[in-house]
Amino acid sequence: MPGIFVTFEGIDGSGKSTQARMLAESLAAAGHEVVLTREPGGSPGAEEIRALLLQGEADRWSPETECLLFTAARRDHMEKRVLPALGRGAVVISDRFADSTRLYQGITRGDLRGLVDRLHALMIGREPDLTLLIDIDPAVGLSRALARQGTEERFENMGEAMQARMRDGFLALADEFPDRIRVIDGARPPAEVAADVARTVAGALAGMTA
Ligand code: ADP
Ligand code: TYD
Repeated sequence: MPGIFVTFEGIDGSGKSTQARMLAESLAAAGHEVVLTREPGGSPGAEEIRALLLQGEADRWSPETECLLFTAARRDHMEKRVLPALGRGAVVISDRFADSTRLYQGITRGDLRGLVDRLHALMIGREPDLTLLIDIDPAVGLSRALARQGTEERFENMGEAMQARMRDGFLALADEFPDRIRVIDGARPPAEVAADVARTVAGALAGMTA
């Protein structure tokens, strides 16, 4: 049986990491081999690039350099972790993937969507089988994200107006890729969101193995 590649997307604080973990636990309990990973990062080399990307001043990198660094991290993550796991037939769950670059670098860091798509085609060339977009009000997402203390705040300092643009951008991506991206309402208790996610993934798994 081929593996399945599932990604979570959404604005900061939408609940992606929480849902990715809950999905991984429920699929593992059902007997699947599950690889839970994240971007930027997910492999030792990509985690080193993650630190370069998420720490430091907001203007540390130009938008173009940032695209190259995210794509370099993704390429290493694919080579070393995602593709080998899919080859073994595992379910790979990634907390963020290429849709985040389409949005964050493609829109908010300048009008670079064309560059992002060209780099993706050249260096990555694969989409997830299923993407769960956790949708949340930007103010709620921001307050959840800011409540988390941390050093990785280059992008989280962008403020609520940018979070609102990101949310609209993600919803537009869901319209652009209707076969792949499912929108999940994140403004509910975690267990309710998780039940919705589990139903959606079960449907996709059934479709792939039918
Ligand atoms: P993301 O990975 O999208 O940034 P997280 O899963 O890390 O989001 O969640 C951000 C914060 O919000 C965490 O403190 C988490 O415990 C909390 N949280 C996650 N999901 C929910 C939810 N459905 N309702 C309320 N709080 C949540
Ligand atoms: P992440 O650790 O998922 O943050 P959060 O849990 O707050 O959602 O991602 C870190 C930041 O990196 C996040 O603000 C989005 C940004 N990012 C990009 O700008 N481009 C990308 O391609 C990816 C994967 C993430």
